[in-house]
This record gives sequence, C-alpha cells and structure tokens, in this order.
Amino acid sequence: MKVIVVKNYDELSELGASIIAKLIKEKPNCTLGLATGSSPVGTYQNLIKAYNNGEISFKDVHSYNLDEYCGIDRNHPQSYYYFMHDNLFNHVDIVEENTHVPYAAPGSDLDAEAKKYTEALNSVEIDLQLLGIGGNGHIGFNEPGTPFEQETFVVTLAEKTREDNKRFFNSIDEVPTHAMTMGIANIMNAKSILMLISGASKADTVVKLLKGEITTDFPASILHKHPNVTVIIDEAAYSKMN
Ligand code: F6R
Repeated sequence: MKVIVVKNYDELSELGASIIAKLIKEKPNCTLGLATGSSPVGTYQNLIKAYNNGEISFKDVHSYNLDEYCGIDRNHPQSYYYFMHDNLFNHVDIVEENTHVPYAAPGSDLDAEAKKYTEALNSVEIDLQLLGIGGNGHIGFNEPGTPFEQETFVVTLAEKTREDNKRFFNSIDEVPTHAMTMGIANIMNAKSILMLISGASKADTVVKLLKGEITTDFPASILHKHPNVTVIIDEAAYSKMN
C-alpha cells in the first residue's frame, strides 16, 4: 500500500485527478470503477477541467460505480446515478451506455439486479477503482462484518453510515436503510485501487487502516492484500498518525 500525504482537499483532488488522467491518456479505452460521496467530488471537478482543456477524452472510457441506495428513483437528487451525472458524466464526453450504476430503484428485483451487476463486473477488468472510506472502515457499502469473498449484494446500512450520510438528506428518516454494493471480492479484482481520505473526521479511521490488523470488522483492511493500492490522505485525516 502506497501512502501519499498531501496538504489539504485541494491537493488531494489535484493528485487524484492527475493519476486518473494519466491512465486515460495511456489507455483511452480504460475501465474505471467510480465512487460517490464527498471524497471524489474535487477529483471529478479536476477531471472535468482536464477534459475542457482538451487534455483527456472520456469517449472510449467505461465506468462501473460502486454502489446505489435501494428504494429511491434514479432521478432523486441523492441517488448515486444522479450524483454521477451531476458531478461528472453530464460534463464530459462519456457515452451513457458505457456507464454503469447498480440499479436498485423502487420496484426492481434487487437480487436479480445484484447478480446481473456481478456478471457484468466479471466480464470486464477494472483498470482503476476509486474508493473513499467510511468512518467505520466500509468500502463501497461493505459494512463491518461483510465477508471478504462477497460479490455484489444488497446490504443493510450500518447506523453509523446512515448517521454519516444524513447530511445529504432532510432528516435521518429519509436516509435509505439498504443499498446495493459491489462486494469486496469485486473491488479486490481491480488492477489498481486509488483511495482518497480527507478531513479530521477520518483521523481515527486512518490510524485503523494503516496500523490495524486485517479483519472483516474493518473492511478496508483487506486492501493491504491488494498488490497495487495508492492511498492519498490529507494532513487533517493523517493528524493522529504522528
Ligand atoms: C461511495 C461509497 C462510500 C464512500 C464512503 C465515504 O460510493 O461507496 O464507501 O466512499 O462512505 O464517503 P465520503 O467520501 O462522503 O466521506
């Protein structure tokens, strides 16, 4: 695991974007695994800048998102489908059919959709998987206790996760109780992994990630077994390591 400590969120976002842009330049038809949440927003903004400057094109890029809330429509502003369009897809030349977000809208057959997503993931190779990390160590929405062999499934969100994410909703009652997520096994299949960690609220999480043992109680710990992981951490998130 390669750890890079940067000053702040802006630097993290610039570095994150430059690593992804380099891959797109080297392999224009690469497959990206994408994340939502606060951590990658600045990275996406810098990628949009690079696109607008003519440095990169997404026209042959394929993408697979980590996860989606269950039971909210795709046009709901808090759906991850909406998030990806709002924060990246609508601003670059990616082809809609080449983008994939798990489908978990009301009325969908969740188990069938999860199976379909795993099959789709098994038919491609993700060149770079972008990750944030939950305060409880979750990756995607693989909450503590999830087996490392898990493939795409419907998860009951941990109360800590619903608490952390209520900032995006009017109240905790509106935060979905379930989500569909790539499993840990799907994430570990990626050729390379880029994790972004920012802010003082993640300082304890960083200590557990970097100093803790490998255990399903802290899902991100499995990344120590992956041969090609880069973690970019800003000073606030790294503050309890010294
Ligand atoms: C998002 C995802 C989650 C987030 C994590 C951190 O698609 O899978 O694992 O990466 O909850 O969220 P932020 O970045 O909002 O702190």
